[in-house]
Amino acid sequence: MIEQKKQVYIETYGCQMNVADSEVVLSVLHDKNYAITNDIKSADVVLVNTCSVRENAEQRVYGRLGKFKELKKQKPGMIIGVLGCMAERLRTKLTGEKAKGVGQIVDIIVGPDEYRKMPQLLEQAGGKAKGIAVQLSRVETYDDITPLRTDGISAWITVMRGCDKFCTFCVVPFTRGRERSRTLGSVVKEVEILSARGFKEVTLLGQNVNSYRDNEFDFADLLRSVAEVDRNIRVRFTTSHPQDMSDKLIATIAGNSNICNFVHLPVQSGSDRVLQAMNRTYDSAHYRRLVNAIRTNIPDVSLSTDIIAGFPAETEEDHRRTLDLIEEIRYDGAYMFKYSPREHTPAFSMTDDVAEEIKTRRIGEIMDLQRRISEEKNSTYVGRSLEVLAEGESKKSPDEWQGRTDGNKMVIFPKGDLVVGDYASVKVDRANSATLFGQLIPGSVKRTTTEAA
Ligand code: 5AD
Ligand code: SF4
Repeated sequence: MIEQKKQVYIETYGCQMNVADSEVVLSVLHDKNYAITNDIKSADVVLVNTCSVRENAEQRVYGRLGKFKELKKQKPGMIIGVLGCMAERLRTKLTGEKAKGVGQIVDIIVGPDEYRKMPQLLEQAGGKAKGIAVQLSRVETYDDITPLRTDGISAWITVMRGCDKFCTFCVVPFTRGRERSRTLGSVVKEVEILSARGFKEVTLLGQNVNSYRDNEFDFADLLRSVAEVDRNIRVRFTTSHPQDMSDKLIATIAGNSNICNFVHLPVQSGSDRVLQAMNRTYDSAHYRRLVNAIRTNIPDVSLSTDIIAGFPAETEEDHRRTLDLIEEIRYDGAYMFKYSPREHTPAFSMTDDVAEEIKTRRIGEIMDLQRRISEEKNSTYVGRSLEVLAEGESKKSPDEWQGRTDGNKMVIFPKGDLVVGDYASVKVDRANSATLFGQLIPGSVKRTTTEAA
């Protein structure tokens, strides 16, 4: 008799690293004869890959676990697993005596460096004892595991894991452990395979991607080697720390046509006093010089950033400096957050003394300003022709594709006779703060996938 394969369902929260990690988990399980399902109701194993970076990310997961509890009532044999950063942070809350409420339904708890143990943990799961694996590793990079990718043209590739920067607000060094990098050779090989499979975009990922190191090779060497594999593949990367943004890296982006002219460079604050309290290891003058070097060397570059409002002891003047920096730099986009105290981080012992309504007002001012700048910048593209990669159907219309420019601008345009993975020129006729809209330029389609691929 053929044994029915167990069905696994996974939900992913948080950063792109988690998306990539979920693909590693699915690969490990697929190899052990598990089937992957998108239908939670038919799943034998329900996994949630979690994020701890802000309190609201954790609250969302608790909400989901509440829903899983109802499902498990109807299907008591269902195995529920909590993976990722929350597994690391909350193992005691989710297990043992303290496991109240949703904690009781969790069968396995697996940290980001323990995914190889998933098959074994699942095999033993379902009894009274919970399966727990939350050791952090100094060496695990899953170098030899090919992630199970579902997307057809765009792939995430984790090239380094962990973070050694210890920004005082950030839980990542505690949930993901120390920095370690994959070998350059293994990353290049993975890109070669993706090229043969017809992928058109790779994004190199790391919590601190530009501090990548493999013996004598630094991140610029890795980026160049990846770009050389296939010039029809766009290469992106995230996230960069301003301290590790070298001239060599800037020159490498400028010197390779398929390394996208887009840099995500989190600044966090415009105030030197706050930057120091955050242990960001640079001041605003260094950051301005960097932006200047990037803009001088990489024509038409897009820049985005992360900002935190309401860090402990942030004054109105500190906040004003952040607004001034945003106004001066004129980012193409920004991720903006209210400060959220995280247990175990150095900032947790500082008083969270910026009142909630002040945080809300400050983040509102930052968001309004950034929206206006994004809108102004996007409107300058009206009338221009931009090369766009067709990435998938527009969420709003079945007759239109969505795709991005080299500089990461989202563009919506009629499908014409393009297929996903084609490049084409689009003339922009309208823009808002998030999206450009336009028309295909006849005869501009560039199909780079051969039938054999
Ligand atoms: N509170 C608010 N935002 C945070 N980030 C990281 N930790 C916190 C926190 N405790 C933000 C930073 C980082 C991004 C990924 O999340 O801006 O760059
Ligand atoms: Fe967190 Fe700072 Fe490391 Fe980024 S660089 S992951 S913000 S500690």
